[in-house]
Amino acid sequence: MPDRSPPEGGAIPGAAAAAATLVAVDDDPIVLELLRHIIGELADVQVLAFGDPEAALAWCRANEPDVIITDYQMPGLSGTELITALRRERHVADVPIMMITATGDRAVRIEALNAGANDVLTKPIEAAEVRARTKNMLAIRRGQRLMAQRSSWLEEEVRRATAAIAARERETILRLSKAAEYRDWETGSHIVRVSLYARVIAKRLSLPAAEQDILFQAAPMHDVGKIGIPDSILLKPGALDEAEFDVIKQHTVIGNQILGGSAAELLQAAAEIALTHHERFDGSGYPMQSAGEQIPLRGRVVAVADTFDALTSQRPYKAAWPPALAWAFLEQNVGLRFDPACVAAFIGAQPEAEEIRSAFPDTAAEGGPQRQWSAPIAAAADGI
Ligand SMILES: [Fe+2]
Ligand SMILES: [Fe+2]
Repeated sequence: MPDRSPPEGGAIPGAAAAAATLVAVDDDPIVLELLRHIIGELADVQVLAFGDPEAALAWCRANEPDVIITDYQMPGLSGTELITALRRERHVADVPIMMITATGDRAVRIEALNAGANDVLTKPIEAAEVRARTKNMLAIRRGQRLMAQRSSWLEEEVRRATAAIAARERETILRLSKAAEYRDWETGSHIVRVSLYARVIAKRLSLPAAEQDILFQAAPMHDVGKIGIPDSILLKPGALDEAEFDVIKQHTVIGNQILGGSAAELLQAAAEIALTHHERFDGSGYPMQSAGEQIPLRGRVVAVADTFDALTSQRPYKAAWPPALAWAFLEQNVGLRFDPACVAAFIGAQPEAEEIRSAFPDTAAEGGPQRQWSAPIAAAADGI
């Protein structure tokens, strides 16, 4: 198992293996040499000396300094101007900067601190003091790097944990859907096709990618409530009478009860689809007789996908309808059973739908209990 423990204090992993980079800027080569000498005595520090503040600024824009020491009075850019320009660079915004000035002027010191200097030293400099202050700034930098590493480690952990939760959620859903499949004739391929059709419709409706994905993942559970329907009715080898059909209709409510009340967005969507996939646009569906946009869009989408697949699939009691007839059925029921926009979207994606249909055929080995079924074709259109 890879070590996923967080970065600890002490050495700076990665960055600390290399020496810290200290940028020294002074137009006086003697001071620069002195600084190089003083700081060179510190362990693990590499000094980059610049006589020209513009060159130092250009280097800092393209690289990552760890500490910057700058003179105040320089041709071109003053120390304060250099600090102001450096602080505008995102990656240098927090790098510790010390300014060294020959003037004892208080106003200059305050100006430098206001521009973003962390420390101001007055010349003549004293080696021990420069070293001590540089060490402090290096410690600040080490802390910054460690914090950045810890936060990216945490981000990665959160991302990993979220992905694991999402994968488990998907798995739970698939297993639940599988349990429902064992109850009747609907096959694994039916569930896959309905999910794919639902996604195609969502895409054509220009729903956001996240919503397309939710539909795709939640649609397989639309009939999970069949688990709660007694075998004597669900597996009845003859036509269903009205009372029995009323019991069958309860699979929507039962599905909603099984899936509802979860904090997971996917299960919430699945509960909504289970409850509403048999509602009809004209209000004549079940269980609530909702109409039009009272029916959640997800339910309207799955109603089209589920019915189309029930019609074009073979059942023990009926042959598969030729696709042309099923497409015509959708069109004839625009505004009656189905949301016109969902039907238009599906018809617009006809080639994709046909591809899905031939890519996921039912196989002989699939399907629930083999039995004679004499329910009317209308039952297939209901997609129960
Ligand atoms: Fe179905
Ligand atoms: Fe159903």
